[in-house]
Amino acid sequence: MTVFDHSLVPAGLQDPAFLATLAAEHGTPLFVYDEDELRARCRDYVANFGDGNVAYAGKAFLCTAMARLVEDEGLHLDVATGGELHVAMHAGFPPERIVVHGNNKSVEELDLALAVEAGRIVVDSFDELDRLEQLAAARGDRPQVLVRVTPGVEAHTHEFIETGTDESKFGFTVAGGVALRAALRVCESRTLSFAGLHLHIGSQIYVLESYRRAIEIVAALAAEIETKAGVPLTELNIGGGLGIRYLVGDPQRDLEEYAATVVDALQSAWADHGLRELPRLMVEPGRSIAGPAAITLYRVGTVKEIPEGRTYVAVDGGMSDNPRPVLYGAGYEVYLPDRIDAARELVCAIAGKHCEQGDILVADARLPEDVAVGDLLAVPVTGAYGYSMASNYNKVPRPAVVFVRDGNARVVVRRETPEDLVRLDEPQ
Ligand code: LLP
Repeated sequence: MTVFDHSLVPAGLQDPAFLATLAAEHGTPLFVYDEDELRARCRDYVANFGDGNVAYAGKAFLCTAMARLVEDEGLHLDVATGGELHVAMHAGFPPERIVVHGNNKSVEELDLALAVEAGRIVVDSFDELDRLEQLAAARGDRPQVLVRVTPGVEAHTHEFIETGTDESKFGFTVAGGVALRAALRVCESRTLSFAGLHLHIGSQIYVLESYRRAIEIVAALAAEIETKAGVPLTELNIGGGLGIRYLVGDPQRDLEEYAATVVDALQSAWADHGLRELPRLMVEPGRSIAGPAAITLYRVGTVKEIPEGRTYVAVDGGMSDNPRPVLYGAGYEVYLPDRIDAARELVCAIAGKHCEQGDILVADARLPEDVAVGDLLAVPVTGAYGYSMASNYNKVPRPAVVFVRDGNARVVVRRETPEDLVRLDEPQ
């Protein structure tokens, strides 16, 4: 397709003149979120999974404003570290709606989770169980604990493969009875309360059947727990992972289909094991809420034609604001907002400004032939794992983030300044 497909850009960010004004006012690179799109995505999840059953995975994108938006929409919040928990508390997020994750939570992180009375703590290892039991006993607390299990379903690629032995660093493997041992230990603990099971089979998943397989495996585990401990499973959190469309040719998975698949899998797997009460089903989406709601605006600074080679269009950001292409070979579309419908005959590479040959945002982009220095360039679907994984590599200040609503933009994260780059250094 030589003409750009508008469907990757949220409705509130379609006006090129508005984007030009934003870039002029706030500078580039700039993360621009359509707040209505974020809210609509939260609501869609709640409509499909029920009130109180959706936790937004903050790792996709978290700041005070995002935590407040998520709270406002009635979602819970998954935090993966003490840092994310700190942001949540700073935003005044209700602690009872916080799910605390992490595969190596420190004593300090666990203590903070207990101190704020986080709604759920997801335990990930026996070492952590030891730490948590001791801390909870010392405080006289009885936290609600989810046991993170690894069902041995590989779902990172577009196919799923059930692996006998699981290589994941997360959770307790179902294989070998490890997850059962962990769950029984929590059930029998005098200081921990068994709230249920948690699993997360991967991210950017298009193959919904992977979830079905994971739920089938967990149903067998739930039956064993019920038999051995006499405790029915009352809560099952199946994590996040729903894949989104980055490229025009990527599949589109809608929430109705996803919800219908997992609910059906739950009902039939529970019936197959003679389990009577269905557990509360929770999900933890990150990417599918934040990803499609934002675009990144860059300014073109250089257009370099290599004789007999490719053309590099270099922009004022790169791997420090979006490391996904370098880390995962992730693909993105790109367009010039003020020539959005122009034919795109030029095949080029969108290069970042970092001292790395590999700092290429889009290796095989298509742009209009007349792309020139000073053009505004946009990359859609950058709302998840972009800003949250941003760095200061080469001492490039991190961009600003704006939320747009009704044609108005507000800065929710300010741009870093040169002073910020030496803020942590020893005083002169
Ligand atoms: N719950 C747990 C326990 C997780 O570990 C994750 C993501 C999620 C929920 C949210 O998954 P999502 O709906 O966003 O797929 N940096 C990578 C993605 C890492 C995902 C880590 N865990 C990327 O940029 O693709």
